[in-house]
Amino acid sequence: MALTMKSTCYSTNNHMTTKYTPLKDHDTPIKVLFTGYLCTVGIGYMFALIQILFTHGMADGKFGLSVDDIVYSYYGNRSGTVLEQKLNGSMKENAPEKERFKIMEWVRDGADSDAYIADGIETIIESRCVMCHNKEASGIPDFTRFEAVKALTTQDTGATFESLTRVSHVHMFGISFIFMFVGLIFSFAETTTTQYKCIAIGMPYVFLVADILSWWLTKIHPMFAWLVIFAGMGMGVSFMFMWVTSILEMWLFKPVFINGFGARYLQLRDSSEVSLADRAWFYLKVLGQQLKLAGIFAKEQWLSRGWPVVKAWFKK
Ligand code: HEC
Repeated sequence: MALTMKSTCYSTNNHMTTKYTPLKDHDTPIKVLFTGYLCTVGIGYMFALIQILFTHGMADGKFGLSVDDIVYSYYGNRSGTVLEQKLNGSMKENAPEKERFKIMEWVRDGADSDAYIADGIETIIESRCVMCHNKEASGIPDFTRFEAVKALTTQDTGATFESLTRVSHVHMFGISFIFMFVGLIFSFAETTTTQYKCIAIGMPYVFLVADILSWWLTKIHPMFAWLVIFAGMGMGVSFMFMWVTSILEMWLFKPVFINGFGARYLQLRDSSEVSLADRAWFYLKVLGQQLKLAGIFAKEQWLSRGWPVVKAWFKK
């Protein structure tokens, strides 16, 4: 019984497929091309993480990424104004304590246009902020205009609709391309079974959509900040897996998959030992058969003994 189960299992498990050229057998120029792309994208990914750390990571005023950071970035910190949050958060280093306090006082007093000049707020903004917040700067408000400053003295409701639509489409187009090529390179890998390859290649797209959806959901309710983290990590893990496997297969196939730790993995993958999942499925099937037999037996008993008794009882 166990033997037939194993062989049927094997015929569906086509990791021995030779429909493509395995990564290690590609010509060196192609390997250089693939490696160049993977390394550049890998460095890009690192810069993206650093950027997240410095923008979102500082949203709560403390270094390092936390759930609060994500809630403040997308849902906003609804207990204060954007200007105050930023002066306590990512803009903290741009002005000394006293000047930041003066700006916040002005905000609390109603952000009046006369007081803006009279209290010297304009001078502070001009000397501390305008070097970045000016007409030339794209994506951040231009503080040479009073209205732009004033607009930030209302309740902080996180990312705006405009910024979310912008970042969403840029991410969808850009990141799907990155995973297109990383996935294409990885699809030539031979050490991963077809099943797991499909998962690793498909996952980033699922996580990408989930990630962007979760920004919008977090804008509506802070509960979804967890989904932002989860989807982001899922994307990172799939990326890492495909990246490392591709590089190892191209350049270190022998030391890793023949003489190194990878050999044990391949042994395990190809071993004639029935896997745990197969075994569980086998016992489930046996259990199902037993239940069916028990059902047939119970039905026979009922028809031959139970039902006549009940019928006789009703007749009386
Ligand atoms: C070194 C350049 C630089 C300086 C100086 C600077 N900012 Fe910023 N500011 C940025 C960048 C970049 C962003 C966008 C990233 C972010 O939100 O952290 C930003 C964002 C902001 C935002 C959020 C805008 C929005 O629409 O969400 C506020 C408010 C702000 N800055 C206030 C200030 C104030 C007040 C000062 C002066 C005390 C200041 N900034 C000085 C670069 C700067």
